[in-house]
Amino acid sequence: MGEEDSGEEYLFKIVVIGDSAVGKSNLLSRYARNEFDLNTKATVGVEFQTVCVEINGKEVKAQIWDTAGQERFRAVTSAYYRGALGALIVYDISRRTTFDSVSRWLEELNRSSEDFWKSDGSTSVGNLLLSVLGSLCQQLLPALDSANCMCKAHCDTAVARILVGNKCDLEDIRDVSVEEGKSVAESEGLFFIETSALDSINVKVAFEIAIKEIY
Ligand code: GTP
Ligand code: MG
Repeated sequence: MGEEDSGEEYLFKIVVIGDSAVGKSNLLSRYARNEFDLNTKATVGVEFQTVCVEINGKEVKAQIWDTAGQERFRAVTSAYYRGALGALIVYDISRRTTFDSVSRWLEELNRSSEDFWKSDGSTSVGNLLLSVLGSLCQQLLPALDSANCMCKAHCDTAVARILVGNKCDLEDIRDVSVEEGKSVAESEGLFFIETSALDSINVKVAFEIAIKEIY
C-alpha cells in the first residue's frame, strides 16, 4: 500500500476461477477493456490485469488474476489463489457440469487459504497470528478507519466471494435456473449474480461487488 499525490492507494488481489470455457477471460476483458472475443483461446496458466476504480474518492487498484480452467493447469493455478481477497467463481448457465464443479472450486479456494496460514510450516503459528490480528483489528477498526484495508488483508483471505452465472444471454438453452444459482450461493455464503460478457450485462457490477466488499 503506497501513497500517491491524490492520497492513499489500495491494491487488492482478486482471482477469477471456474471450469474451462465458462467465459472468465471474456468477463475480464469486458470489464478491463470493454472487449469481447467470440473465438478466445483457452488460457494457459494465469494472466493478470490491473484495474483502477475510484471508491469514495479513493483510488483502488484491483489486480485481477484470470486463471486457466483446464484440469491440466490446476496445480499451477491454485498456487495463485494465495493472498486473494476476492474471488469470482464462474459457471456457464447453459452447461450444468460447470455449475456442478462450483463446490470443487470452492474447496480448492479454501485449501489455498489454509495453506496461506501454514506457509511457514507451522499451523499453530499461523493460527496464533490470525487470532492476534483478528482481535487487534476489532479493537483498532473503529478508531483507525484508514487501517481498515490492511486489517482485512491480514484477517481474512478471499473475503468477498461471488458466484457468477455467466452467458445469461443464452436464455433459450439455459441449463441452470436463477433459483438454483441463488440457492447454492446462499448455502455457501456467496454473493450471486448472473452476467453476460457478450451483452455486457452485470459485468462491471460483478467485479465491483468484490472490490467494494473488500474495501
Ligand atoms: P479457460 O481459459 O479455458 O478457462 O476458458 P474461459 O473461462 O476463460 O472462457 P473464455 O472467456 O475463453 O470463453 C469461452 C467461450 O465462451 C468463447 O468462445 C467466448 O466467446 C464465449 N463466451 C464468453 N462469455 C460469453 C457470454 O457471456 N455469452 C456467450 N454467449 N458466450 C460467451
Ligand atoms: Mg480463459
